[in-house]
Amino acid sequence: MIREFHQTSLRGRNSFGVEQHAARLAEFENAEDLRTLFGNGAPERWCVLGGGNNILFTRDYDGLLLTPVCRQITPLGEADGTVRIRVDAGVEWDDLVEWAVQHGLWGIENLSLIPGTAGAAPVQNIGAYGCEAKDVIEQVHMFCVDSRSTATLDAAHCCFGYRESVFKHELRGRVVITAVDIRLSRTPRPRLGYGDVEREVEARGGATLRNIREAICAIRRAKLPDPKVTGNAGSFFKNPVVDQSVAQQLRAEWPDMPVYPAAGAPGRAKLAAGWLIDKAGLKGYKSGRVGVHERQALVLVNLGGATGGEVLDFAHMVQARVHEKFGIEIDTEVNIL
Ligand code: EPU
Repeated sequence: MIREFHQTSLRGRNSFGVEQHAARLAEFENAEDLRTLFGNGAPERWCVLGGGNNILFTRDYDGLLLTPVCRQITPLGEADGTVRIRVDAGVEWDDLVEWAVQHGLWGIENLSLIPGTAGAAPVQNIGAYGCEAKDVIEQVHMFCVDSRSTATLDAAHCCFGYRESVFKHELRGRVVITAVDIRLSRTPRPRLGYGDVEREVEARGGATLRNIREAICAIRRAKLPDPKVTGNAGSFFKNPVVDQSVAQQLRAEWPDMPVYPAAGAPGRAKLAAGWLIDKAGLKGYKSGRVGVHERQALVLVNLGGATGGEVLDFAHMVQARVHEKFGIEIDTEVNIL
């Protein structure tokens, strides 16, 4: 079933809590609904708005926003301890993690408490604490706007990278994700190697699924602001990937600068944008109604009533200060509309 809204406020539909309006917004359940919505050809401007957790509206949206609301989790089968499930695009990602933990299924517990919907997970290949959505995604089901037909893409064709996928590039504006098939495991596979995870898990009595989920939730809650209280979109910037030589030069000057290997990119290294912003003196910095979060410099916060334009201007200032100090460009992870 389709529910349509016209000239509707987006304030409750974006985690930054900025007040903009959409000319038209349709909540849809399935590909049939999309066929109806795109029946007379695609509108000039449209885009998918899932949970609105990774988006910054800087103006009113004069096209059609599409929000998936189907929230089924369907087991597809089990073989040799591997369980395959289909997750509708509208399922809250963290509800899926809780479902997996309750069913004793391993694979996404490190991705606890990431805000957003399952349909958005493959788009930016969400990741945290040494795990990424691509580690479990088998297939992505989608509606193709040009042909008005459905199609399925295997993970191998999704071109997953660090916060990257084909859905941000070749397929951008061409498909709507309707469901994602993922693969979970009955065999315990704790991944505790990142930061404080192991310590927090041990403090809870060892590496059970429930303890890992609770440890990750505790770590995130301690560092990241709750969007229900303070408008934000998680990491506003991506960690920059640079040539090894650049990383080495910076390391010579800043010996405590974190440098990580850049998976799948030989000769390149990943730096920590949060560290760069912090060392540029901006952690906790505020200007007007926008600030850098006090406990995690990667996160920009709406201090109350900020417009998307104000957040964007502030983000440009942060980028300029990091560039001035380190000569490094940091790109936004958040989609700017
Ligand atoms: N750091 C600072 N100051 C800060 C923030 C970080 O010095 O204010 C340093 C930390 O001490 C650490 C390094 O920078 O040495 C990296 O920080 P952290 O481990 O907190 O992770 P991150 O690289 O900042 C990434 C993801 C997060 C994810 C965490 C945990 C990106 C852009 N962000 O952050 O994802 O939760 O790792 O795995 O890749 C998100 O995408 O919204 C998000 C929160």
